[in-house]
Amino acid sequence: MTFVPKPNVCQPSGSAELAMLDVYMPMMKSAAIISAGRLGLFEALAKGPLPLAELAAKIQSSLQGTATLADFLVVIGYLEKQGECIANTASTQRWFTSEGQVDYTPGLLWTHEAWPMMGALAEAVRSGTPGKTLWDAMVEKPQLGQLFSAYMAAFATDLGPDLLEHVPIEATHQRLLDLGGSHGLHSIRFCQRYPQLSAVIVDLPSALTETGATIAQAELSARIHLSPGDLLEHDWGSGFDVVFYLSVAHNHTAEDNRRVIQRIGESLNPGGLLVIHEYIEDMPLKPFHAAFSLTLLFETGTKIHRQADYSSWLTAAGFSAVSRIDLNPQEKGSLILARR
Ligand SMILES: C[S@@+](CC[C@H](N)C(=O)[O-])C[C@H]1O[C@@H](n2cnc3c(N)ncnc32)[C@H](O)[C@@H]1O
Repeated sequence: MTFVPKPNVCQPSGSAELAMLDVYMPMMKSAAIISAGRLGLFEALAKGPLPLAELAAKIQSSLQGTATLADFLVVIGYLEKQGECIANTASTQRWFTSEGQVDYTPGLLWTHEAWPMMGALAEAVRSGTPGKTLWDAMVEKPQLGQLFSAYMAAFATDLGPDLLEHVPIEATHQRLLDLGGSHGLHSIRFCQRYPQLSAVIVDLPSALTETGATIAQAELSARIHLSPGDLLEHDWGSGFDVVFYLSVAHNHTAEDNRRVIQRIGESLNPGGLLVIHEYIEDMPLKPFHAAFSLTLLFETGTKIHRQADYSSWLTAAGFSAVSRIDLNPQEKGSLILARR
């Protein structure tokens, strides 16, 4: 399949810049893509192009509504017209269907939930903290935790091959601790690749509702165990050879990370390996990182941290041989590896 770059309809098209285009067009672009995900429109086209009427029937929507949505999705490069039929573009097929490389539809469903919450961003900016953290919202509304875990699972599917490539598991490594392990996919992937490994996953109970079933489906219930709890206080045990701290540090303050990394150091066997996956605050700030920090201010009241912060926490906790791998594309984040 050939990948044609998507047109950037969020840029002003004429010589006169219309101020509201920066707000209106990204809003409509997001709304259209999210709606397609919620309606199952991309999945409906996963097996091949369909005439409009058939597509409308398949997603149980009006002909007029489907036609108008499809027209806009064609303009922004998510669908294409093939004669009388509508088809996914190669990129849509790859990223938003079960036939592609990774299905990020759970990310669309999550963003549908996150969108109304983002309406309170100004209040979070004013006070400097979230009115209610994401974790509290998940306790109140359990389906939020499931949606978030499903979105993280899609990202983990995308990130998995990078982790396998860059994380040097050794024949002597037997016990893996997966802090903030959520969906369980990273532990599952490593236990599948390395038969000598067993794993303990620590996460908040709201993030683990589906994890046991996923592990059972992978037939790994004897080797991967759940340990629900708040990792800032939880006793997760000791004698581990490898610890994953993947996309969790940005959920915690600098002081909490310093304490957690100290405790990770104490629970690793000599020579044990710590793997951190994160977005690292480099200067000048990258657009994605700046957007992510603003999301965190609102969702958890935290931020992404600097390389210098990680280095000082790791050194203080007795780690050495600290190395950093920037993943490609840069929106996938970075890995920090360190030895105890
Ligand atoms: C961004 S997700 C990353 C999930 C997974 N590690 C991955 O890389 O795909 C962050 C995870 O950390 C968990 N988490 C955040 N704060 C936590 C805490 N204090 N105790 C336990 N888990 C926590 C969240 O519930 C969530 O599952």
